[in-house]
Amino acid sequence: MATEAPPAAAAPAAAQDQDINPWSVQGGTDANGEIVAINYEAISKKWATSLVDDALLERFERVTGHKPHIWLRRGLFFSHRDFDRILTRYEHGDPFFLYTGRGPSTGSLHLGHTIPLQFTKWLQDVFDVPLVFMLTDDEKALFKDGLAFEDTLKYGMENARDIIALGFDQKKTFIYSDLKYVGGHFLMNAWEFSRLVPFNQVRGAFGFNESSNVGKIFFPAVQCVAGFATSYPEIWSDPPAEERSKEIAKIDCLIPMGIDQDPYFRLLRDNSHRMRYPSPKPALIHSKFLTALQGPGGKMSSSNPNSAIFMTDTPKQIKTKINKHAFSGGRETLEEHRELGGNPDIDVSYIYLTYFEEDDEKLKKIYDDYKKGEMLTGELKKLAVDLLQKNVEEFQARRALVTDEVLASYMKPRKLEWAGNPNPKPKPAPEPKKGKEGKEAKEPKEAKAKEGKLTKAEKKLAQRPKEDN
Ligand code: TYM
Repeated sequence: MATEAPPAAAAPAAAQDQDINPWSVQGGTDANGEIVAINYEAISKKWATSLVDDALLERFERVTGHKPHIWLRRGLFFSHRDFDRILTRYEHGDPFFLYTGRGPSTGSLHLGHTIPLQFTKWLQDVFDVPLVFMLTDDEKALFKDGLAFEDTLKYGMENARDIIALGFDQKKTFIYSDLKYVGGHFLMNAWEFSRLVPFNQVRGAFGFNESSNVGKIFFPAVQCVAGFATSYPEIWSDPPAEERSKEIAKIDCLIPMGIDQDPYFRLLRDNSHRMRYPSPKPALIHSKFLTALQGPGGKMSSSNPNSAIFMTDTPKQIKTKINKHAFSGGRETLEEHRELGGNPDIDVSYIYLTYFEEDDEKLKKIYDDYKKGEMLTGELKKLAVDLLQKNVEEFQARRALVTDEVLASYMKPRKLEWAGNPNPKPKPAPEPKKGKEGKEAKEPKEAKAKEGKLTKAEKKLAQRPKEDN
């Protein structure tokens, strides 16, 4: 197909002991105890997700008429669950919405956070669908010592300005703070969901123990039910529905995220059909982590300011961070580098270029020149500095335009406006299923789920932690 991508940084050897969870991310270690790059194929295998492949990208282009985003073509959004089902929905004009989020642990986003968010904006533009954006100011105060709820609420409002500056369409976007919005149908969903999930199911997934505060134990229900359309009665109709309903619950959901958030949504997918008004298992699309300045064994993270470029950084700070801290795949001396060449696969400046240099040919030439020793580390770093400075400066200019009124307009619960697929294809007629006496038969499991009851097998499953779905 016409979407051949230049080389992304190569996959590292398998690391058995890498640790990826919603609160920390670390690559495994090699025989010398050195941290090695994160092995994404290994995570995908362990968590039984599907890898994004050429067939999926070709189908994306066919169904949407859009060339896949460079981050899809370059394998930076590398994994998914049921993304193909969302394409089928789009193809036939069936409704679905996007959901993503941010945990406001500081007042500013770093460049890594902007990756899934910028990608979500692109998906919103391509699909023309509503987006709900959750600010988990509850989560961050529950999980981070020393942060008060007042702090996270305040950070959330600052983060919301950053999010708006990424360009989401106001008519189709609802941004909310958990501390302010979660009530009504949303809270009812969270309580109902929490009733379906025994402690042993979250203990394994999130590493809780008997000393974990009970807020932490309940919180996953909140992050999960944000994927149910019934949690947002205001966005579907004006006036909003007074009660949750079967029809609204059927609206599908696509959640873009960094792969660290997957454990939440496995839990959601395991249980969404068990709600009183069952919802489809939300579809997920996962990104790799924008690597820490120190190297591809860690992610850019707010908890280690030296690892990250913040969206508040000045051009000078960006230059200093890249020049001083960005891990280099260059050789010790100039002569050696010219003779043996550098290693772009582990070079942080090159890795950043794979995100922000849009020109495939230019990127390929940089890769080859660096590998052959024709390009020096200083030259490669300068390319990264220039692109990142431009990205952050443009962002800051847009953010300066986010007034209090603009912020309030995104955060007001209201009916959203969108159009979806302008040319949906008719669905093939469903084949009727025949029962014993020629009557149409219902799937026994689905019929039970519709009544909100569990089959015996489902009851059994709910008693033990799930690896995957
Ligand atoms: P948070 O604030 O830790 O991260 C927000 C989003 O950014 C992703 N992310 C990164 N992506 C690429 N490179 C990095 N270095 C990097 N660091 C973080 C995260 O995976 C996430 O997608 N609990 C969540 C908030 C949340 C959410 C959601 C996220 C609520 N509902 C639904 C995604 C989807 C959190 O604390 O995210």
